[in-house]
Amino acid sequence: MTPTYRGDVRQTIEILQSVLATEIVCVLRYTMHSISASGISSEGIKNEFKQHAAEEQQHVLAVAERINQLGGKPNFNPEGLATRSASQYAEGENLVDMIKENLIAERIAVDHYRELIRYFRDDDPGTRVMLEGILTVEEEHANDMQDLLDAHQGAPAR
Ligand SMILES: [Fe+2]
Ligand SMILES: [Fe+2]
Repeated sequence: MTPTYRGDVRQTIEILQSVLATEIVCVLRYTMHSISASGISSEGIKNEFKQHAAEEQQHVLAVAERINQLGGKPNFNPEGLATRSASQYAEGENLVDMIKENLIAERIAVDHYRELIRYFRDDDPGTRVMLEGILTVEEEHANDMQDLLDAHQGAPAR
């Protein structure tokens, strides 16, 4: 922590704990979907879920590192995880449901991170820049899910 930090560091750590929980839930959801997606044309989708899970894991690490840098202790406690997260852990009944759940979660993440980027502005450029990097990936994720949904909407679940 540099003495020139202009934000409220405790508040920043609190916010980042919620971002961390959101990203962990994203890892769990995409991982679960990548395993349990089944049916015709599910192979490509499984791979996409798997790739997203790996990218969410990178976000987990980046956010946890940032919390650590700011003097906080990243909260990986499974207890209360869902409550700290901005998005839900939803399994989805079938392929289309799964895609929809991921799309909802990505949109929530995108809105949340845009808001946080505005909030941090110049008070904490380090955190802001990190969130901008994550936001770019979440926007891609949302686009990917929208494309999958368009391609599979109305298709039978299995
Ligand atoms: Fe993420
Ligand atoms: Fe994402």
